[in-house]
Amino acid sequence: MPIKESSVIWKNGEFLPWHQATTHVLSHGLHYGTGIFEGIRVYDTPGGPRGFRLTDHMERMQDSARIYQMPMPYSAEEMVRASHELIRLNGLTSAYIRPIAYFGYGSIGVVPEEETPLDVVIAAFEWGAYLGDDGQQEGVDVCVSSWNRVAPNTIPAGAKATGNYLSGYLISREAKSRGFREGIALGVDGRLSEGAGENVFLVHRGKILTPPASSSVLLGITRDSVVTLASDLGYEVVEQPIPREMLYVADEMFLTGTAAEITAVRSVDGVALRAGAPGPVTRRLSEAFFGLFDGRTEDRRGWLEPIEPAESKIAPTGATGTMEIRNGAAVTV
Ligand SMILES: Cc1ncc(COP(=O)(O)O)c(C=O)c1O
Repeated sequence: MPIKESSVIWKNGEFLPWHQATTHVLSHGLHYGTGIFEGIRVYDTPGGPRGFRLTDHMERMQDSARIYQMPMPYSAEEMVRASHELIRLNGLTSAYIRPIAYFGYGSIGVVPEEETPLDVVIAAFEWGAYLGDDGQQEGVDVCVSSWNRVAPNTIPAGAKATGNYLSGYLISREAKSRGFREGIALGVDGRLSEGAGENVFLVHRGKILTPPASSSVLLGITRDSVVTLASDLGYEVVEQPIPREMLYVADEMFLTGTAAEITAVRSVDGVALRAGAPGPVTRRLSEAFFGLFDGRTEDRRGWLEPIEPAESKIAPTGATGTMEIRNGAAVTV
């Protein structure tokens, strides 16, 4: 999917014109996969642009940094504030925000030397439905990948790190080459894990099932939102290890993620889901989820974070420079 460019990108405390936000070819993260990132959607709601659980995403990024012992120079709150500024400067009302932190230029070798900077970047741009508009309406055809997800105690699936996506790349690439929209992976124990970039849910005999953290999944923020909304609607949600065969006897199946939002699955390995796509439970959950963004669902937990138009100068902790906003103009200080 081509990137729809916007005007400015935030890097290490400064706003840079889109094409000047570059990095050195010998950056550590490029060679060794030492980066952590997030993906957040901003929705154009009746009350104005709202970042969906923006703070939770920035907190998960801090967790990813802790897992890899990366010295994040900005707090979650500072990242949230910088994102607000970025959305405003780019004049966006709906967007995908992509923060990333990676070891930059300074040393060669697997463990970066102390002086190697952890570069922190936030970009924001417009983005549509990840698994396609038709996928959103009619569901997608998926396959079980021949690739397993990362084994426990190898590369942590619970950290959202750039290097992890070599796994997602293989899973999704294989699925696409075989004519499927997305690939679903099993863990090394043969049980259901997750999609290349989505968590997986099944509906079986009225219960909603999803694999637990121990099944090598990223604990998705959309996953958590869906579990909460499903409980609000009175469904029983069970987190349990799921054997592969459940995929073929489930009534419904759907994928969740910031990119995929809630996308129904129509078939797995060519076997159609019993209750169609979207099935009745998936439809109800989708209505509750998307209803948050058009006002049909009450935002009972403050998940919709207003994008504050801040005019102030912010000096993030540990930043070498400062960022300054001057009446909507992108200014590098
Ligand atoms: C591997 C993987 N699993 C699950 C998810 C869903 O996470 P979230 O709902 O927080 O976007 C993502 C997307 O970020 C992902 O890349």
